[in-house]
Parts: sequence; C-alpha cells; structure tokens
Amino acid sequence: MAILIKSEREIDLIRKSCKLLAGVHEELKTMIEPGVSTKEINDYGDKLIRDLGCTPNFLNYNGYPASICVSVNEEVVHGIPNAHHILQEGDIVSLDCGLIYKGYHSDAARTYGVGKITPELEKLIEETKNSFFEGIKKAKAGNHLFEISNAIDDYISQFGYGIVRDLVGHGVGTKLHEDPQIPNFRQPRKGPKLQPGMTLAIEPMINLGRADVEWLDDDWTVVAEDGLPSAHYENTILITDGEPEILTLL
Ligand code: MF3
Ligand code: CO
Repeated sequence: MAILIKSEREIDLIRKSCKLLAGVHEELKTMIEPGVSTKEINDYGDKLIRDLGCTPNFLNYNGYPASICVSVNEEVVHGIPNAHHILQEGDIVSLDCGLIYKGYHSDAARTYGVGKITPELEKLIEETKNSFFEGIKKAKAGNHLFEISNAIDDYISQFGYGIVRDLVGHGVGTKLHEDPQIPNFRQPRKGPKLQPGMTLAIEPMINLGRADVEWLDDDWTVVAEDGLPSAHYENTILITDGEPEILTLL
C-alpha cells in the first residue's frame, strides 16, 4: 500500500491526538518510582486516556491485553502490565502508549530510570533518544525514507549497542500502523521519497548488548536474547516543507 499523504484537516486531528498523548506521557512519568507495579502504570494511563474522551489504541490490538506497553530492563517492547511486576530501584522502564482522537491515532514511547540507575543505563537511555533526533534531521521532504534509518544506525554504531531489527517504525493515521515500515538500521535501498503530509512514528529500540531478540511465551513481550537492558524512544512526526514537526512533544 502507498504512504498516505494527510490533508490539513487530518493533520490537525493527528496533531491534536498527539498533543493529548504527550500530556498522558508527562503525567505517567510522575508515577515512575520504586514500588509501583506495571499494572498500576497501565491502569492510570488507561484512565487518563479515557478521561480525555479518547480510546487507548493498543488495547485489543491484535489481541494485546492492555492499554500501555510497560517493558522493564531486558524487555524491549510490548511488555504486558502485571500487578506482581513491581519496579525496583535501578530498573529502566519503557512506556509505549497511544490513543485515538476522533478516529486519528498517535503513538509515542519513552524510557525512564527507576530511582537511581547506573551511568551505563543513563547513557543507553540518552543515546537512544539522541538517535531519534539524529534520524529526524533527515526527515525532510525530498529526502528518502531510509536516510532516517541510516542516520540512526550511523549514530548508534559508535556506542557498540545492538539496534533491534525485528521491529520497526511505521506510518500513523486512521490506523496505528500504516505504511511505510521504518527500520532503525542501515538499508541498502533509498526507500520512498518523503513528502509533506506524511505522518510517521520513528522509534529506535536499542539494546545495551546484542541486537537479537526473542518473544516470551505470552507471545507479546519482546526481550533481549542476552538478557541485557534495552531502551526505546518514539515520537509521531509530520513531514513538512521545512523542518519535521514532532507531534508527540508538548
Ligand atoms: N508503539 C507500538 C508499536 O508501534 C504499539 C504496539 S501496540 C500493541 O509497535 F498492541 F502491539 F502493543
Ligand atoms: Co509505534
């Protein structure tokens, strides 16, 4: 399927969806502390989304059983919230969250330290975020999509981290996942040309150790095969005539 170019009206709705989601993330961040269960984070996020009159788009997506993906330490993405999974000092936790506003989706993820974490993990979180910003320097009309992928890979390669290859970014619109797929690692092709009105979720998933991942028996939770921690940073962005607009930041 082709990459959809959104109309001004659609862009306004996606922008609004994304701003509301950014507010949800800001609020969820305040919950991150030792002793909180991943289920409590999910339940609060679910309530925040519904109180805005919106719908959590992850809940029941291909059968995913929660509204917020909460992924701790070696869990890369799609961790399932659990009342018995209690955050501990020194953990890192990724919150991936999205919502639907008037039919339009948004999608964003952040990784946080729980209490005091090691400098090594601080750096993993920071460089994962930085790689997103390196990537979107290329997110300009007239450039090609995989320039974003290559920029993320080039930036991360200096640290010796593993870039997850089994999951990728994507278009966002009236569906959570639209074309195109957006890898976070070097591509041999240029990919499609970027055009104003494309709305894209760029989401590097970066492992402290090797890139390989596996799925737990719940068939959702993606973990680093070597058991080392992983970070995730995602925003939905808009391609414009000039600089990209990061829609899921306040
Ligand atoms: N941000 C996640 C992604 O793009 C959304 C996952 S929804 C879930 O993969 F339902 F699969 F968890
Ligand atoms: Co996404």
